Order: sequence, then structure tokens, then C-alpha cells
Amino acid sequence: MINKVVFISGASRGIGESLANYFAEKDYYVVGTSRNDFNFKNKSKNLFPIKLDITCRESIKICFNNLKEKNLLPTILINNAGITSDQLFLRMKDDEWDDVISTNLTGVFNLTKIFIKNMIKNKGGRIINISSISGLMGNPGQVNYSSSKAALNGFTKSLAKEIGSRNITVNNVAPGFIDTDMTSYLQEDAKQEIINTIPLQRLGNIDDVSKLVYFLASDEASYITGQTISVDGGLLMY
Ligand code: NAI
Repeated sequence: MINKVVFISGASRGIGESLANYFAEKDYYVVGTSRNDFNFKNKSKNLFPIKLDITCRESIKICFNNLKEKNLLPTILINNAGITSDQLFLRMKDDEWDDVISTNLTGVFNLTKIFIKNMIKNKGGRIINISSISGLMGNPGQVNYSSSKAALNGFTKSLAKEIGSRNITVNNVAPGFIDTDMTSYLQEDAKQEIINTIPLQRLGNIDDVSKLVYFLASDEASYITGQTISVDGGLLMY
């Protein structure tokens, strides 16, 4: 029998890789994708790497057909892949806007659109989007990124309302500052300044995010949908 299948975009490193390992250790079968060829450092037999650019609908279709043939269509979809291309708005180039929106927002649309039908057929599923507190509180230099992540909040709520009756939950996880390649550009003093604003006085680690996502994917979270949940050490409180 095939274990539950989880599809994770952007699984070659950072939060996505941590998520992949986390689910694989719990006996899920993990299909992890990334733009470039990659291999999981962990050699678990439950981890299946695929090269896939989530902005390319043609490649997504091919990937879908391959997974269908192997009976590996996911019941849990984790839309994790994301990019930044930071620039002050007045200097932001069209490409910097387009690239971020097409990966962070349209990429989520592309994957969700293709995998949701099978979830409906199976009468259940989980869709978890990795958003950001930047989409909730804004951040100078990130008009493109904040817009893409804020849009995921609306995407999540509207889709949750449409497909709740099909026993599919849709949620959004909004990490704060997590120690990954994406935040590695920060100088030590800038990092310290950020840490001073975080009530828990540290950057998050990738496991902090994995634990929340794992919970949202589990049966225990079956009555939670349409939510954006922050994992940010208390940086943003309502
Ligand atoms: P990362 O830069 O370490 O990894 C991103 C992954 O996405 C890589 O595997 C990359 O190959 C993949 N990717 C990028 N564009 C792609 C495309 N077009 N097609 C397929 N794969 C693509 O990033 P990190 O830090 O692990 O972030 C993961 C998610 O968490 C992103 O959505 C990011 O916006 C979000 N996030 C991260 C925070 C942080 O502090 N690191 C804070 C808030 C949100």
C-alpha cells in the first residue's frame, strides 16, 4: 500500500527540504520539487525529487501525468516555493515584479489547479500555502513580495469557502524571519536589530515551520480552514 503522498514545491533546501524530511520521517511519501536538478541529502526511500519550475504549466502537466501513472497524486499539497527580488518601489523593474508574482502567486494557482481535482475525487485533502508575515505587515523593499504573499491570504480564504464542503482544508502559514538562504543576506547587525523586535528573541528555525505545517496536514487539524497562522516568535500580534 502506498503511504499518504505529500507534494512539496521548493524542496531542495530551506523550509521545503525540512518539510520533506519531516514528513518522510513520519512515513509519508514525499514528492519534492525544485527549479533545478537536486537530490535530497537524506537518503530516505520515501523522498522522491523532481525538477520542476512551478511557473511552467507545460512542465506541471507532464509532472502530473507522471505522478498519476505511478499512483502518486498527492492528498496533501504544500505550496512552499517562493522567491524574493527586493528593491525599493521607485527602482523596481518590471521583471522584478513579474518574477515574484509568477512564482509566489501564479505558481500556487498552477499547482493547486492541477492537483485539487484528485482531492475532490478522493473526498478529502489538505492545501497549505507558505505565505509570510511580510504579506501581513508589509516590509520596505518588498512591495512585490508582500503583494504576492498578501494575495495568498485571499486565495486561501476564497478557496477554503469554495471547497470546504468537499472535506478539503486550505490554510496559510506565515513565517517570520527564519534562518535559511533567503535570510542569509542579512548582516549580523541587521540580524540583531530584527532579533531585538522579536518577543522570543531569536530567528525562527526551519523546524518551527515544519511542526506547524505537519499539524495542519494531520487529521487533528480537520476543523481548521481558511486561516493564516503566523510562526514568527511573536513579531506580529493582532
Ligand atoms: P529558499 O530560497 O531557501 O528555498 C526556496 C525553494 O524554492 C528552493 O528549493 C528553490 O529552488 C524553490 N523555487 C524557487 N522558485 C521556484 C520555481 N519557479 N519553481 C520551483 N521551485 C522554485 O527559501 P526558504 O527560506 O526555504 O523559503 C520557503 C518559503 O517560505 C518561501 O515561499 C518563502 O517566501 C517563505 N518564507 C520564508 C521566510 C524566511 O525567513 N526564510 C520568511 C517568510 C516566508
